[in-house]
Amino acid sequence: MLTIVKGPYLQWPTEDSMTIMWETSEQASSRADVLMAERIHSGYQGNYKKPEHVVSTVSNKGYCTIHQLTVKNLEPSTIYFYNIYSACEKGEIESGPHPLKTAVRKGEPFSFTVTSETGGYSGFDQSNGRINRNIFHQMQRYRPDLTLFVGDLVNDGQNYDDWEKYFFRPGKDFIINTPFYSCLGNHERNASWYYDFFAYDPPKNYYSFDYGDVHFICLDSTDFIKPEHYPNSAGEISSGNAQYDFLVQDLEATSAAWKIVFFHYPPYISGGYQVEELRKLSPVLEQYGVDVVFNSHTIVYERSHPIRGGQIDENDGIVYIVAGGAGAMPDWFLPKREWHTSQSLAVPHFVQVVVTSNLLELRAIDEEGRLFDALKIRKGTNGRKEFL
Ligand SMILES: [Fe+2]
Repeated sequence: MLTIVKGPYLQWPTEDSMTIMWETSEQASSRADVLMAERIHSGYQGNYKKPEHVVSTVSNKGYCTIHQLTVKNLEPSTIYFYNIYSACEKGEIESGPHPLKTAVRKGEPFSFTVTSETGGYSGFDQSNGRINRNIFHQMQRYRPDLTLFVGDLVNDGQNYDDWEKYFFRPGKDFIINTPFYSCLGNHERNASWYYDFFAYDPPKNYYSFDYGDVHFICLDSTDFIKPEHYPNSAGEISSGNAQYDFLVQDLEATSAAWKIVFFHYPPYISGGYQVEELRKLSPVLEQYGVDVVFNSHTIVYERSHPIRGGQIDENDGIVYIVAGGAGAMPDWFLPKREWHTSQSLAVPHFVQVVVTSNLLELRAIDEEGRLFDALKIRKGTNGRKEFL
């Protein structure tokens, strides 16, 4: 019998397209339809009539198990619904309709969430995935337009079953309507599954994209600091390194109001597993006005003071946030904080971010929905920042 074993889930939202992925139990064909639905005061899926009007469709008659289709010619900032279909000799399956929202235009507000360690923590976790499910459920309550995962989605990326156990099953109801991006953590082990399951721009372990007024850059810190050299690199964070050169050229080319970078190993954490070597990235991040860096790896929450030139700079610093996410290892903290630590707590959590052209609101929320940290960054027309 043909069944859907993963997804469907959403990838790489743009103003006029969305990539839809799913996995089937057998090699099968793929089709995705995007539908418009009429708004009413109450009814199907939160104030929509049952969607019937197909506005875009895409199909692939070739057989595969991991399906990836990009639906095009959509309108920006618009809520649609989608259906997916697969068929082979063993049967036919479909799923939907599920909501999707295209990317907002420049100048329009949006929100996103950040978490990580759904698998990295689970290696120590006795809760049978309860924490992972709670974190996904809490993020869903905030209805983010997209979400970032800062690595260690799985315990062992080379183990196929891990992807279902730690990520796709607990996250199913969330990623069905929330496009997501991830970076490689050490637990992914640079496995081919990462490259198969996610639809990021090549080479996929690092890439960048725009959403509204934010330019996001994903880096692969496990490539900068190879496992055999961890936690000290062999001096690869410099020009001539393909990923470093990509970072510089990419930052040079963007004129986005906000710049956010995410990668797994934390350059600043008052706890274990800090990878100081990654501070070699800071000069270029500072030069091009990066606002926030998200990291993970140390399974706690920690927000740094704004830092520039290796010291606190309340006017123009970068805030480094370790969103160690779906777990909590209080013992990994040092007994006391470091100079760069602004706020920190070892609880399972995610970060919720609301973005407008000149204000970034960040909130850290625990697995039961309690707010435990907040920061606002306001940016003047001269680019000057205020941390509130
Ligand atoms: Fe890690």
